[in-house]
Order: sequence, then C-alpha cells, then structure tokens
Amino acid sequence: MSRVESLISRMTLAEKIGQLTMTACGMAVTGPTIAGDSTEAIKSGEIGNLLNLVGTDNVRGMQRLAVEESRLGIPLLIGYDVIHGHRTLFPIPLGEAATFDPRSWALSARESACEAAADGLAMTFAPMLDVSRDPRWGRIAEGPGEDPFVGALMAQAKVSGYQGADLQLEDSLAACAKHYCAYGCVSAGRDYAPVDISERTLHEIHMVPFAASVAAGVAAIMPAFTDLNGVPMTANKALIEDWLRARWAFEGVIISDYNAIAELLRHGIAADVPQAAALALKAGVDIDMMADAYRYGLPVALQRGEISVADIDRAVRRVLVLKERLGLFDDPYRRGKKRESPAVLSNRRQVARDIASRSIVMLKNAAGALPLSGSARRLAVIGPLTNASAEMRGVWWGAAGPEGHVTVLEGLRAALPGAEILHSEGVDIESSDFSGIAAAVDRCASADVIILCLGEAAVMSGEASSRAYLGLPGIQRRLAEAVFERAKRSKIPVIVVLFSGRPLIVPWLVEGADAVLAAWFLGSEAGNAIADVVTGRAGPSGRTPVTWPRAAGQVPIFFSERPGGRPFDSKDRFTSKYLDVANEPLFPFGFGLTYGRFEHSNLRLSAAAIGIGDAVKVQVDVANRGSREAEETVFLFTHDKVASVSRPKLELKGFSKIRLAPGESGTVTLSLSASALCFLDLKLQPTFEPGEVEIFVGPCADPTQLLSASIQLAGGAASKQ
Ligand code: NOJ
Repeated sequence: MSRVESLISRMTLAEKIGQLTMTACGMAVTGPTIAGDSTEAIKSGEIGNLLNLVGTDNVRGMQRLAVEESRLGIPLLIGYDVIHGHRTLFPIPLGEAATFDPRSWALSARESACEAAADGLAMTFAPMLDVSRDPRWGRIAEGPGEDPFVGALMAQAKVSGYQGADLQLEDSLAACAKHYCAYGCVSAGRDYAPVDISERTLHEIHMVPFAASVAAGVAAIMPAFTDLNGVPMTANKALIEDWLRARWAFEGVIISDYNAIAELLRHGIAADVPQAAALALKAGVDIDMMADAYRYGLPVALQRGEISVADIDRAVRRVLVLKERLGLFDDPYRRGKKRESPAVLSNRRQVARDIASRSIVMLKNAAGALPLSGSARRLAVIGPLTNASAEMRGVWWGAAGPEGHVTVLEGLRAALPGAEILHSEGVDIESSDFSGIAAAVDRCASADVIILCLGEAAVMSGEASSRAYLGLPGIQRRLAEAVFERAKRSKIPVIVVLFSGRPLIVPWLVEGADAVLAAWFLGSEAGNAIADVVTGRAGPSGRTPVTWPRAAGQVPIFFSERPGGRPFDSKDRFTSKYLDVANEPLFPFGFGLTYGRFEHSNLRLSAAAIGIGDAVKVQVDVANRGSREAEETVFLFTHDKVASVSRPKLELKGFSKIRLAPGESGTVTLSLSASALCFLDLKLQPTFEPGEVEIFVGPCADPTQLLSASIQLAGGAASKQ
C-alpha cells in the first residue's frame, strides 16, 4: 500500500478533515482575521495546512509541531501570497505583463520561489490569471491584463518559474492558479460583486489562461470568491469537477479562497455551515482556507448524508499526494535549510532592476524630452511619490518591509552623482492640504528639467480597492497644473512618472507633460529602473497590456471587441459611438514608445492557404530610423472575416521583439498555426471553418498602424482545438 493510502487507512475523521483545513497564522493579514491560536489544533491533527506564516524559524517551529507532536506526523503545507516577489519585489504582474517577455515572467517567478522557499515556504497563491478589461477593479493590478493569449503565456511562464524543474526540489514552490474563473468581470468593477457573462466569453476568454496553467502542470487552483451567472465558484461543480477535473484532467488540489466556503451562506445558496461545506466538497474543493467550515461542518454533513467518507477521502488523497510531491514527507524541513548568499541576493536585485526597467511604458515623449541630455544638471524632483519606499512595493509585498525599496529620488541621485537635485513633495498622495504646492513650484523655477512623480498609493489597487473615479487621487492635479504653468513660463520640460495599479484616466496630464512614463509599481528596484530609463542607460521597451481609456464611460474597453452591425462612421449618426467622447482609447493595447523610431514594412506569408495541421510563417521587416539603439515589439493579430459566429476585429496570436541599432534593419518571424484559428461554434464546440482570415502585424492594436495580408483556410472538417 502506498504511503498516502496507508495514512488514509489510519486516519480518524478529525485528522482527515484537518488535512482539508488551512488556517492563517496571524503573521500577515490578507482577509478578516478569524482563526485564533492554532498550536493545539496542529498537534491534534485538526489543522494540516497554514498560510501567512513567514520566517524559517517560525515555519520550522510550526512544522515541528505537526511532524513531531501530532499522532501521524503529517507535515504541514505552508503557503503564502508570493505574487510579485517575497522579500525582493518585482513589478506588479500588470506592470510585468508590459514587458511582453515570457522569459522575464518565468525568471521573476523562479527568483521569488527560491527566496520564499529559502524562507521555509512550500506554496504560493499565484499566479493570478484573471483577465480583466475594467480598470475600476483594483485587482487588475495583479493579473496579466486584458488578453487571454497573454494570460495563457503568463500562466505557463509563472507555473514553470514557481515550480522549477521538480516540486521535490528545495527551491520549488507549488503554484496555485487563481481565481478560477472570470473574477475579472465583477459587475461595475466592484470587488467581490457578482459576475454575469456569456458562456462564450467564459470559455473564449477567461478559461484560457487556466487551461494553460493546467497544461503547464500547476499544482493547485483557487476558485474565485464570486458567483458566476448565479453559481458561486466555490460551489461550482460544473466548472470544477466536471470541467477542470473531468475535461482537463486536472489532478491537483483545489484550495478555497479566504473564508469563501462560509460565504456561501451570504451568497444565499446554503442555509448553514454544514450545507456550505458539503456543497464545496461536492464541487471539488479540497482545502478550506480560513472558514473552518470543513472542520465544523463536514462531520454534520456526513451525519446528514450530504456527503460520504469517500468524498472526504478523495480530497484528503489529493492533499497528501501534493505534500508527497513537494517532498515534505521525506524531509519536512527541506525548505529553509540553507541561507541564500549575498551574491545570490545581489544578483536577484539586478534581475529585479532589469525587469522593472523593461516594464516601464513610455506613453509620451514630445521633442525628445527623454532621455535626459547631458546638459540637464539641475533636476527638480517633485511630487508625493518621489521618495516613497513603501509605495514602490506595489500591491502584494510578500514578506518585504516598507524600507529599502529604491525611490525615484535615490535612483536619480545614484545615476547622476554630478547633478544638483532639488526635491519637494508638494502634496500627499491623498490629502487635501495644498500648503506645500507653492514651495514645490518654487523649486522648479531654476531647474533644467522637472521630474513629476504622481499617482496612486500602492494600496489603492489590489484586493478590495475598486475605484469609480480613475484620476489622480487627492489634489495631485492641482500640483501638476501649478508645475505645468511654471514650467511653461521658463520652457522647462516636465517628465511625469505615473505610478498606478491600473491605467489612470488622465488625458489632461498627458497633454500637459512633455514626457510620460507609466511606472506601475516596479518593486524593490523601482527608483534605479526609472533612473535607468530617464538617463538612457536603458531604453523604454514596455507596452501597455491593457487598453488605456480616455474616459471612465468607455469601460470596458478592449481591442478584441466584435465588429457589430453599425461600426462607427463619422458621416452616419446611427453608428456606434458616444456623443461626448471618441471611441478610441487614449492609448491602444500594446502601445509604448521607445528611444528608436521604427518602421514596419514588407509583410509576407509563407503560404496563401493552410489546412488544419499547418502553420504559416508571418514575416515583417523592421527598420530603426531613429538615432538610438532600441527594442521594438511586433504584434500579430488575426480577424476571421466571415464565420458562423462573429469574430473579434482583432485577436492576438503572437508577439516578438527585435533590438536594432540606429539605421539597422531586421526581420521578425512569427509562426501562426491553423489550429490557433479554431474558435467555438454555435454549440461552443471547437471548429475550424474554411475562408479568409486577415493577418495584421504592427506595433500595437491601433488599426491605423497595422500592416495587413490575408490567408485562406482550406478544408472544413470540424477539428479539436
Ligand atoms: C484573498 C485573495 O482573494 C487571494 O488572492 C489570496 O490568495 C488569499 N486572500 C490569501 O491571502
């Protein structure tokens, strides 16, 4: 009999349910604090998993209780939200998505896993794969942005990065893809609100990254807090048991979100805790995070006949198998044994700096305001985010304290030791005290250039941080306008560094500034990365992974909209438009300037027609006509012109990067397989329909900047995706 089966055969009901229970240790608060002291419950085997515990000594102490003082000595599974770093922080996921570089996505996850595992942890509640098209929703900061293709690549990169070569290894973490599914569509962008979307949108958009995470071997999945079309995901048997497990053959562990099983009562689908516990278990949820609903509800549900011992055993088996895969039975203390060397830590900082600089999206650069010229000797660094170490961390700071994250001021001082740097915050991020504005404006008077650091506080995005007004918080606009006015009088260029966990709706700011850098929240090396781009040590190469609206009323706005029957026509009133704002976003998906000047030409395809098993080579020439070396990102979109179901105007199917010296040209080659052109038919079954597909290639999703060609899809047999 295997170790797992032999354990199950010896476990009491309470011990079994203990393996299905995960409790917070009070080291970090990531939800309402519910659980008290867990020591006795770990010893009695009634708690088998922990979250929010960090530090090798703490982890080891708790693990020792389970291994040495509980009857069966089953090790604990200890998880934590290592979302964009553990102690060394990388850019928030939305910012990192802007690199459009899966290797970076995997690398930051690998580094984070090494750091967290060295702290004794075995699981992270990441990656967050919620596609979102609504910047009101604060959690857009935690995910890949608006596109499922990007989400799928991110899923694959992150799972491989966190889990490493083998879960047994001491530097691996079990990844937990979340939040399954469609959490990014909460109504009106309000966190935790219900989700009501079509089956088509669910399957074409929101399930896609999760399918990729399963294909990449993700160890665990967390259902969303929300209901989907009336069925809370925590009790959604159809999507967990019948889809994830039966269709996708997912064999890993399903972990509820924080207190989500108890919240089934509030959703109004369970009358009491035992019923909620039974619904979740029957739906396929193995571990109850923080609700204690399994602990107190499952025994009653069993008595009432709502579940069977076999249901419990199935879940216990999956949890024990994961513990075994993580090597916890063989050596429960394997993680956290070795301290990481200073060389490893300093290399990690370098990686963080590099990824952070590549996450920056340059939204505007009028008259070559950036990079700073050597003659800029006097800098006025103004605004509430100039010297804000804690804010640089972003939405999930893991185990990182508030200090030690390089600020813009520190980064610029280090990069420009000979320059004179004048500094003033002017206003707070949120207060309404304008008494500091005059002094800040005075500081600008004699400067060669003004660096204006504005934006949100880190906690204004992420969980429970929806916003209805997406402008600059507090009275930052007043500061900015005063600075613009002063700068205009003396013709001083103003560079805005904009911090946010979402695209902020600030067309006036973009208009008034000479240059704008979207800096998201870049993590521990933020200030150095920004200084690298500002001084030209690194070129900006990030591209926005979300369409950037010009007005909140445009939300949800995204590039892969379907065409509709009355697309906008300025000569025809009865077409799709607003009376008071343009249809176009402020910046399209994929937009981002560089220090080069790129031209795309000569789009060509290796075939005029392809069948289902084929692929076509898509090539385009790219020339850098600018005066600096730079990296261009090239996107490949498609549009199926006539199909049984109306297809989006643009669907992303690939992207690639090319670095070119001034005057240099190169060719970008992308491969497009015919199977990527399958879609879901009227019955939501994958189909491959013959006909013409338009191919678009260019620097972003702005249709006016795309080169086009077309290809015929040959043969008509329906085919599996
Ligand atoms: C609630 C969040 O929704 C989830 O993303 C997180 O992993 C858990 N809390 C644990 O902190």
